[in-house]
Amino acid sequence: MKFNWPAESIWEQIQPVWPDFTIDIVSQTDSTNTQLLQRIRSGQTAPVMLVAETQTAGRGRMGKAWASQAGDTLMFSLAAPLNPEQHGLSLVLGCAVINALDTIGQKLKIKWPNDIWYAQPDPNTGQNLWHKLVGILVETVLYGRQRYAVIGIGININPPPQQSTYHTPPGYLKQLDPRWDAPSALACVAPHVAQAVYNFNTHGLAPWQQSFAQKDLLAGNRLYISNGIQGTGAGIDLHGNLLIKTADGLKTISSGEVSVRPC
Ligand code: BTN
Repeated sequence: MKFNWPAESIWEQIQPVWPDFTIDIVSQTDSTNTQLLQRIRSGQTAPVMLVAETQTAGRGRMGKAWASQAGDTLMFSLAAPLNPEQHGLSLVLGCAVINALDTIGQKLKIKWPNDIWYAQPDPNTGQNLWHKLVGILVETVLYGRQRYAVIGIGININPPPQQSTYHTPPGYLKQLDPRWDAPSALACVAPHVAQAVYNFNTHGLAPWQQSFAQKDLLAGNRLYISNGIQGTGAGIDLHGNLLIKTADGLKTISSGEVSVRPC
């Protein structure tokens, strides 16, 4: 194992929320999400967190691969029961992760539906340049009559390899504070995420609406949606759908299966 992980202290903080909670840390797996989906499908349904130092087949949203360098990214998944009557879990998770990481506020924002971006002022223009720092993949699965969420979180810790040709280079946590590493980020984020999922099952998105509004990267910006709609970001509705002001009125974007970019 490359790191010394704070498994016991995380377990102590989450176990009061879910008494049957366990945490597993492995040096390598294909994808922590894939593993936890398989566990639930085989009847292992107790809440569990799986952390991997390396993934050989990491997955992102919309069927994309999620590549990562060992040690440069924190990768973990949480499997827990989900109340299917609540909507907007990915937005709640975005808020919870920012609350855990962004202790001084204002530097991290959520790009609907579930990415966290980091603003760094351009040294030449002083304008903010935005870099993706965290990716969140929420998948759900039914076992018996209970629905479960498998929440996968990838947080860039170190700068990406130099040879990468990213459209917009990713952000990384050490830009916020060089003392961050994968274990300290996990210790900070994991209890916030577990508590958020637990509360979401009872109270849903409503208690997070104001928090989301302060972290909404898209609000007030001109946007292009992959389904062809263009307009200005106008927040979210009570179900967590994206609202866009267009020339034809207010449009609701309900599916996470669209990509949104500034135009
Ligand atoms: C995205 O931005 O498209 C979501 C990326 C989610 C990556 C994390 S890393 C841990 C977990 N396991 C996976 O295979 N994916 C998620």
